[in-house]
Amino acid sequence: MIRIVDPKKGTMYDDYLHLRWLLLREPLGGERGSELDDMESVSYHRAIVDKDNDIIGVGRVHFGDSLAQIRYMGVKHSHSRMGYGTKLLYTLEKIVYNHGINKIFLNSRINAISFYQKNGYSKIKRVEPSFGDIIHYRMEKIL
Ligand SMILES: CC(C)(COP(=O)(O)OP(=O)(O)OC[C@H]1O[C@@H](n2cnc3c(N)ncnc32)[C@H](O)[C@@H]1OP(=O)(O)O)[C@@H](O)C(=O)NCCC(=O)NCCS
Repeated sequence: MIRIVDPKKGTMYDDYLHLRWLLLREPLGGERGSELDDMESVSYHRAIVDKDNDIIGVGRVHFGDSLAQIRYMGVKHSHSRMGYGTKLLYTLEKIVYNHGINKIFLNSRINAISFYQKNGYSKIKRVEPSFGDIIHYRMEKIL
């Protein structure tokens, strides 16, 4: 049984950021701290936790001018292809929808494009990565 929670409520925020770092920065040689940007305090954070309250997935959304950006999606490799990424994405999309915003964009690593396409996102154009040298594409979805 999994649950999707706000990691800022309670004591798991550091574990949430640690998993973000482990999945998205450490493999690229990033130091701890490189997983952060200047939107953390105004963002909505979500974690998937298992029955023991261990975090198995992370994701974040923040808002700009009439659109939302999803960032830092990651699911532990041991739990991939079990639908958890999709559940997390849906939860973030619901936050966006409830804010009265209907357009979401994200910059996807090339390896995650199929995941986002499966979830209704369209590939728009190649963009520069914000970290490392993995090829990224801007993707968008209208809710
Ligand atoms: C991308 C990621 C978040 C997907 O999470 P997930 O929990 O494995 O995704 P789901 O199980 O919900 O997958 C839903 C569908 O997306 C597609 N998909 C997911 N991962 C895929 C992959 N590696 N290759 C091709 N299609 C994929 C499939 O169609 C899948 O459905 P299926 O398993 O029934 O075929 C996860 O693989 C991950 O954390 N990757 C490493 C970090 C990363 O690249 N994050 C994205 C940064 S932009």
